[in-house]
Amino acid sequence: MKNEKLPWPERYRPEFLKEIVGNIVSVKGLRNWIESWVRGTPSVKAVLLIGPPGVGKTASIGALSRDYDLELVEFNSSDKRNKGVIENHVWKAATQQTLDGRLRIILLDEVDGLSGTSDRGGVNAILKIIDETGHPIVMTANDPHSPRLRSLVKKCKVFTFTHIESKHMLDVLRKIVATQGLELSDEKMEEIIGQSGGDLRAAISDLETVLVGEHSPEEILSSRDIRRDVEEVLRRLFMTTDPGAARQVISELDVDHRELLLWLEENVQLHLLTPKELELGLEFLSLADLSLGRIMRGQNWKLLAYIYDFLSAGIATSRTETPYRNVQYSRPTWPLLMWQGKRKRDKQKDLLAALSAVAGVSRDRAIGTYGNAISEIVRRSPGLRKTFSSWLGVKGSFLD
Ligand SMILES: Nc1ncnc2c1ncn2[C@@H]1O[C@H](COP(=O)(O)OP(=O)(O)OP(=O)(O)O)[C@@H](O)[C@H]1O
Ligand SMILES: [Mg+2]
Repeated sequence: MKNEKLPWPERYRPEFLKEIVGNIVSVKGLRNWIESWVRGTPSVKAVLLIGPPGVGKTASIGALSRDYDLELVEFNSSDKRNKGVIENHVWKAATQQTLDGRLRIILLDEVDGLSGTSDRGGVNAILKIIDETGHPIVMTANDPHSPRLRSLVKKCKVFTFTHIESKHMLDVLRKIVATQGLELSDEKMEEIIGQSGGDLRAAISDLETVLVGEHSPEEILSSRDIRRDVEEVLRRLFMTTDPGAARQVISELDVDHRELLLWLEENVQLHLLTPKELELGLEFLSLADLSLGRIMRGQNWKLLAYIYDFLSAGIATSRTETPYRNVQYSRPTWPLLMWQGKRKRDKQKDLLAALSAVAGVSRDRAIGTYGNAISEIVRRSPGLRKTFSSWLGVKGSFLD
């Protein structure tokens, strides 16, 4: 069994093509294409797999490489894939032989996500490599209308992937449930499938959430040992559009709500792409922020439940149009800045900077309104000193 700590969509990633469900025509086409390479007469040099998230594009390529015992080289994070990297690393992978003379599949995952100013150069570099490559090149993309794909499409054979049919999804979920030695009614599984919109990754992830939630106490305890890091929580939170599943994800979280709020503020725009979605998402975040302020002022901890709802159900239901996509999350910037600045600045400046960053106001106003308020809170409830100091990234004594 693969690493038990992996989230289920990874843990149950298909190993061989026979485990891939749905999209049979495209999977068969990929098989024929790779066979043409193995025979030494490639039909085309590169293929482009286009389809929504979580339907097996990346998984098919991994399985293909294992079925045909080919080397697989993946270039899959957009920040490591600017023009320079493509010209250098991808170029080498495409034009040099493998040590043992096998073929090497070069996977450029999510080419519609190439970002930054280097876009154009990046696409041009890929086009050049396709002309010169000695190895099969596979690219994947979610958005068929992405302008970045226009010139790539001309040089590739395109395989379309579509949503996975419910009956196939049910097979996969049943198998996972059985492998886990657990039980779940078909009805419940169908409910999960219905929520997933044909995205098998999302369905497997929701299945994990539901089953881990329904475990026996010992199992829950042992699963708590599996510390999910923030990024994993963000991923799962953004994957679901079901308020219940979102609440559950957050309830298992080992990070406090303030930190989560910061991470969400930093990253929502990666998933809520339309103005309407983003507006709604930001609205929920500011409600959470507002409630947090009320808690701090009035010690009304009952509001905490609402904060969790805004951050979970609120965010999950805000994503109504944009499909889930795999993204690289960034750390919230201000605590990091505070941390870096801490070594250089004197303590008063640190506090001011931290406060003005949190409040988004000038330093003078920050100390006038927030600084005094926080000192007052800490004076009345010394127990909160630690909370505030870690929140602001300053030493507890700074708050006096
Ligand atoms: N067709 C499938 N057959 C079996 N498992 C699948 C299939 N599609 C998705 N899965 C499951 O979902 C996970 C994610 O799938 P995969 O990485 O292939 O998605 P993708 O289509 O590449 O999505 P993205 O566009 O977000 O990269 C897999 O690890 C596997 O557990
Ligand atoms: Mg993928």
